[in-house]
Formats: sequence, C-alpha cells, structure tokens
Amino acid sequence: MTLYPKLILDALSTVRYPGNGKNIVEAEMVADNLRIDGMKVSFSIIFEKPTDPFMKSVVKSAETAIHTYVSKEVEVTITTESKQAARPEPGKLLPQVKNVIAVSSGKGGVGKSTVAANLAVALSKLGYKVGLLDADIFGPSVPKMFQVEDARPYAEEVGGRDLIVPVEKYGIELLSIGFFVSPEQATLWRGAMASNALKQLVGDAKWGELDYFVLDTPPGTSDIHLTLLQNLAITGAVIVSTPQEVALADARKGINMYQNDKVNVPILGLVENMAWFTPAELPENKYYLFGKEGTKRLAEELNVPLLGQIPIVQSICEGGDNGTPVALNEDSITGQAFIELARNVVEQTEKRNAEMAPTLIVQTHK
Ligand SMILES: Nc1ncnc2c1ncn2[C@@H]1O[C@H](COP(=O)(O)OP(=O)(O)OP(=O)(O)O)[C@@H](O)[C@H]1O
Ligand SMILES: [Mg+2]
Repeated sequence: MTLYPKLILDALSTVRYPGNGKNIVEAEMVADNLRIDGMKVSFSIIFEKPTDPFMKSVVKSAETAIHTYVSKEVEVTITTESKQAARPEPGKLLPQVKNVIAVSSGKGGVGKSTVAANLAVALSKLGYKVGLLDADIFGPSVPKMFQVEDARPYAEEVGGRDLIVPVEKYGIELLSIGFFVSPEQATLWRGAMASNALKQLVGDAKWGELDYFVLDTPPGTSDIHLTLLQNLAITGAVIVSTPQEVALADARKGINMYQNDKVNVPILGLVENMAWFTPAELPENKYYLFGKEGTKRLAEELNVPLLGQIPIVQSICEGGDNGTPVALNEDSITGQAFIELARNVVEQTEKRNAEMAPTLIVQTHK
C-alpha cells in the first residue's frame, strides 16, 4: 500500500472539531507539515488556544480516523500547535511584579477586604505602583469597594496572547471575578472552575510593573488559597484578626497554613482590626468591644510584628460601601492608621527580602 496526502486528508475530514462543528480539514486546523515516509505519517493540528478543551479528543479522533479509513498499519505521530502563545508556567508568572502580599485571616468578616483595599490605597499614596487582585471568587468585594461595579475589562493582544487589561481606579490596577460574572453565577461553580478563573486573573492579565501586588483572599483555608500558592510566589502574608478569641483561634489556622513546611510563606505580621471603638463626640474614650489587644498578644506570642491597629469607625464601613476607601484621606485618623500600616508592611517586606530567599510556589504532585 502506498500512502499519499489526499488519502490522509480525506480520513481527517471525517473528524469534527466540537467547538464549531466543522471538520478539521475545512477548519484549516491541519497544518501544512504533513510528512509521509513509508507507513509513517506525521503532521500537526493547530488550535486557537494552548488550553483548548478539545485538544486531546481531537488528536485521538484524528488517529482513529486514519486507522479506520486508511489502514491500521499506519504509524501516526500528531503534534499540536496553537495560534496563541501559552501562559507562562506557574512560578514564572508576573516577573514584573516585585512583591506579592496576601491579606488573609482564618475567620470571615474580620476586615480582610477592608484592610486589603486600604493597604493598596495607602501603598499607592506612599508612591508605590500597586495592583489589587480580588481572589475571593465566591464573594468578591473589590468592585464595590472601589465603585467600579460596572467596569467590564477588555482584552488586549500582548506577545501573541490575549490578556485581560486590569481596571484602574485611584491609580491602582484592579481585577476581580465580579467584573465578569454575577456573584450568583460564581457560587454555582465547582472548585476547578473557580481555580481556573483565578489562574486567568493572575496569569492571563496584563498586570503592569508593580511594586506591590496585594491579594484579597477568601475566608478560611480553602482550595483558592492552594491555587494562589501553586501559581504565585507570595512574598509574605498579612494576617488580619479582630481581638476576639474566636477570631484569634482562626487567625492561628491561617498562619499555620502559610507556615506549613510545604508552603513556607513568611508572615509579615498581624493587623488588629476593629481594635476599639471611639465615638466621635468622646474622642478620648476607647471602647474595647471585642476585647483589648488580643491580636497584639498573639503577635507577641508568635514573635511576629503587629503591623497596625485599626479602630472601628463608621467612615471605614461607609468608605467600603460607597467606593472611597478611607485611606484616600491621609489627614483623617483612619487614613493615618492605614498609612502607618502600609509603612510597616513596606519595612517588613524589605527586611524579609534582605534576610530570606524568594518564596517558591507550592508544587502540584500528579
Ligand atoms: N475598622 C472597621 N470599622 C468599621 N467597619 C469595618 C471595619 N473593618 C471592616 N468593617 C466593615 O465590616 C464588614 C466586613 O469587612 P470586610 O468585608 O472587609 O471583611 P472580610 O474579612 O473581607 O469578609 P469576608 O470574609 O466575607 O471576605 C464590612 O461591612 C466592612 O465595611
Ligand atoms: Mg472579603
């Protein structure tokens, strides 16, 4: 039997690409590198994206088609190509970003998003280039906290890849799943979908040259945290807690997740949020609603810095709700508290970078 190109192409034209229902020859997915050498046949199939979900099944069907319509004896070698360049490997993502800071807690509702947003604003006020990624796929806060709920980021081609352009507000680059899907939609997602979406927000976005890339993480120690640790070399974690016992117990869990010997992300320090309440009419009085200095004691016990104490103030809550983080106003007492926090984060990050090797990503074991 003599093989010739038409025989192979006819067989391949029985294979449909599920994405558009066309056969792969008609869809011009068979590259013009078809080589025939005796009973050996080799060629490439071209896909739009390196992550095409049908890649494996199309390759398998092409091989089967040749065996079925030409001969079982044909030795088929198929390689795949994609029009778009591949996303860089985990660990090689965002080389233009100097420091990645994860804002975490164990417990929900203690003020991670508030601290992350105001830390980002305060760092930017200090003159750094800042990005903020809302990694809370199931409960995004960034669109509301920055009053950019209506933003719909577009994609731009960079180096053969389509990259999402972050939204800019107050000089900070922002991305959140909230820009792409409604919260109700996202809550129906399985873990793998959430993890993929997060990978795209990190690896398929046009983040600029950033001094600080702040991550607002979801409550607890979830799969989302693992996805972050597997894809980004996190410079250090900032742990937020209220002074309350239950919050402190959960803060320990959060700290343990980063300190685990397979993870090894340094803890830059703790933030005591809702440290006390001061009524506007009695500025001297501090009321310790959640207990006094619990987070400060935990920091001493664990021998990590206390990066800041943030009081409970109505304007912090309102600033979050109406899209103007209080740190924008450097003259306010709350603005001062966040600027002080940002200074301490910078100091601890620089100390960490001088004393320790860069963080490595957590490897996935297959
Ligand atoms: N220091 C503060 N003073 C007044 N209100 C605050 C303060 N910190 C946070 N809040 C308010 O408390 C609520 C919870 O805060 P936030 O959303 O930042 O918590 P979170 O830890 O990110 O929550 P989640 O776990 O749901 O992500 C918000 O309404 C926020 O405005
Ligand atoms: Mg939050």
